[in-house]
Amino acid sequence: MMARRAWVFCLLLTVAGAVATADAESEAEALSTYIVHVAPAHAPRSSRPRVLSSAYRSFLRGHLPAGPAPRLLYSYAHAATGFAARLTERQAAHLASQDSVLAVVPDATHQLHTTLTPSFLGLSASSGLLPASGGATDVVIGIIDTGVYPKDRASFAADPSLPPPPSTFRGRCVSTPAFNASAYCNNKLVGAKFFNLGYEAAHGGVIEETESRSPLDTNGHGTHTSSTAAGSAVADAAFFDYAKGKAVGMAPGARIAAYKACWTRGCTYSDILMAFDEAIKDGVNVISVSLGAVGRAPQFYSDTTAVGAFSAVRKGIVVSASAGNAGPGEFTAVNVAPWILTVGASTINRQFPANIVLGNGETFTGTSLYAGMPLGPSKIALVYGGDVGSSVCESGKLNTSTVAGKIVVCDPGVNGRAAKGEAVKLARGAGAILVSSKAFGEQALATAHVLPATAVTFAAAEKIKNYIRTNASPVATIVFQGTVIGRTPSSPRMASFSSRGPNFIAPEIFKPDVTAPGVDILAAWTGENSPSELDSDTRRVKFNIISGTSMSCPHVSGIAALLRQAHPEWSPAAIKSALMTTAYNVDNAGDIIKDMSTGEASTPFVRGAGHVDPNCAVDPGLVYDAGTDDYISFLCALGYTAKQIAVLTRDGSVTDCSKRSGSVGDHNYPAFSVVFSSGDGKVTQRRVVRNVGSNAMATYTASVTSPAGVRVTVEPPTLQFSATQKTQEYAITFAAQQGSVTEKYTFGSIVWSDGKHKVTSPIAITWPASQQVAAM
Ligand SMILES: *[C@@H]1O[C@H](CO)[C@@H](O)[C@H](O)[C@H]1NC(C)=O
Ligand SMILES: *[C@@H]1O[C@H](CO)[C@@H](O)[C@H](O)[C@H]1NC(C)=O
Repeated sequence: MMARRAWVFCLLLTVAGAVATADAESEAEALSTYIVHVAPAHAPRSSRPRVLSSAYRSFLRGHLPAGPAPRLLYSYAHAATGFAARLTERQAAHLASQDSVLAVVPDATHQLHTTLTPSFLGLSASSGLLPASGGATDVVIGIIDTGVYPKDRASFAADPSLPPPPSTFRGRCVSTPAFNASAYCNNKLVGAKFFNLGYEAAHGGVIEETESRSPLDTNGHGTHTSSTAAGSAVADAAFFDYAKGKAVGMAPGARIAAYKACWTRGCTYSDILMAFDEAIKDGVNVISVSLGAVGRAPQFYSDTTAVGAFSAVRKGIVVSASAGNAGPGEFTAVNVAPWILTVGASTINRQFPANIVLGNGETFTGTSLYAGMPLGPSKIALVYGGDVGSSVCESGKLNTSTVAGKIVVCDPGVNGRAAKGEAVKLARGAGAILVSSKAFGEQALATAHVLPATAVTFAAAEKIKNYIRTNASPVATIVFQGTVIGRTPSSPRMASFSSRGPNFIAPEIFKPDVTAPGVDILAAWTGENSPSELDSDTRRVKFNIISGTSMSCPHVSGIAALLRQAHPEWSPAAIKSALMTTAYNVDNAGDIIKDMSTGEASTPFVRGAGHVDPNCAVDPGLVYDAGTDDYISFLCALGYTAKQIAVLTRDGSVTDCSKRSGSVGDHNYPAFSVVFSSGDGKVTQRRVVRNVGSNAMATYTASVTSPAGVRVTVEPPTLQFSATQKTQEYAITFAAQQGSVTEKYTFGSIVWSDGKHKVTSPIAITWPASQQVAAM
């Protein structure tokens, strides 16, 4: 997947470059898609699509009298107030200057960010969250992704044991020549729609050539995420011989509604916003979005996922989103709005080892999902790609006469992992060893290779390269070991690629929120794409194994669906709080969950509040709740203008931030992130907790693990709850001890306990750069 996208990205750059060289005048006249957020007072009252689009057409004619009327792509009424239209830069600027317009956001493209996991998560039919929620039969999960491939896929088959879908769901499946709704949709797959206008406007109507205008998933990603969240149980699932077993979604009773907004070259903001609009209108209960901005997180008012999620959360819909695959650098997490549940990715207790044995007997553990004829035990010639035409093993650059019959070592970057194997195969190589990037540390990623290939860590590759350099005739073989489930290496471990905090937009809002399984995940796959995503690969599979925060997000979406049914009265913030305060931070060896990029303990800016623990989340004791009004205060504290806030809130009344007090850090979040602007900082944050335990009379006492360099005090240190006093407030003060810290960040935690529940929140301190210099 990364391979294809990287290539596409180059292509887009080339096109953009060509436009840039055109003369300025024609550039100003070129049409682009813009999302126009209209002030509620100037918006049509009706939400009927035909009334809306005719009203927005006359809005455009009224504001842009000169020239032909712009083409309207979408009218929004549920996730945003406004429309998407094809406009010139000049028209867009003119609209942006109008009082009736809150914001004009240029359309852009988001990137898409892969069964053993139910048992790894402790989900059991006999006790805990699964029986407490009835499997979430009354919940509909909307998946905004590449669509769904239900044809001959048991994960999406009708389930006679399920009651009828909830009557609150008003969505449906659209039928197209490629998607026969009456054949594909049933009491499991209850909705399937597609949104292509923004994408086709941006790419010149390219959809028909490669994929059909339909909800059908021709990529595989959406089929994978949907079945992970709520797929029906399938016995004897496997990817060839790998990961054999029963595959089932986290919420086996929940219904799936697919909203296809992602196509071969990505997902445009305008299509995503329309997918949110329809999902909210249809009455889904959870929205799962495994996609995000390229690069740093955008401001919330210009990020359609944040905009759509705001209106969804206001309606009680939980929005779970992937943190991104841009790790291990700091500030890489996207989807960081406080109303979104942001999910990082970690490993489970399953490996796919494929080991390299060198001529000198040295052995290195690699990982692979190669499923064809293995190499024999006898060792064959080993070369480095850099010595035979291409260090990264680019197609067409490897020298066939020096590669034929050999194993080639390929560096990371430029092309995708499967494409490197394909390039070696084309050059008639016998096998490949893929080197991981240095920043990935202990992590190598398994791939469904088209020739015998395995991936190793950077450190192992250095030794292998040294062996090649220092031997006259280096030889090796690769030994594929299939599926290994076990206690070592420790699990979970944080994936190196998992995007990290701090929060780029609002550093005082702790992100990511939680981690969940996102490495080597088995789930359903499309029949229209190969498991390696290479065009030359003619294999078609019912299940595939892939990795990413795209895969961890739907795990949490499914668990959120279970919580939604177990506690119908809980808000999205309460569900998030329950997941965060009950998350665990210790691996199966009893150590803090490790970060594969360093091999050391992960920090809360990597693992969030910890790994989700569904059976504990059903009974968290206390919750940190928040609603629309809290989010508005947060936006005020962030310094957003009334217009920027209105893009999100879509309120008729203008928000007067001067009437709201409190800092960003006072937002009632179930975690603490404190940014010291000076070395002797002192920050107090306030929180409100609500007792949701079965015991109305409860006394909770705080215990704090102070971050290095900080004195933490809690007032009051004890909270008493009763039948009439269900909520209590407390203040927590962080006082820096001058000159004592050299790190950029230090971490701790606060735990409220009544002896039965442990309500745990992480604490992160960001120290000023000057303080670190002074201390060093
Ligand atoms: C769609 O599926 C239904 C039910 O299986 C079938 O009766 C119908 O013929 C199909 N329509 C087309 C156009 O294939
Ligand atoms: C390929 O390798 C052979 C054998 O070493 C060499 O003779 C030939 O010049 C190489 N071709 C290219 C294009 O580098």
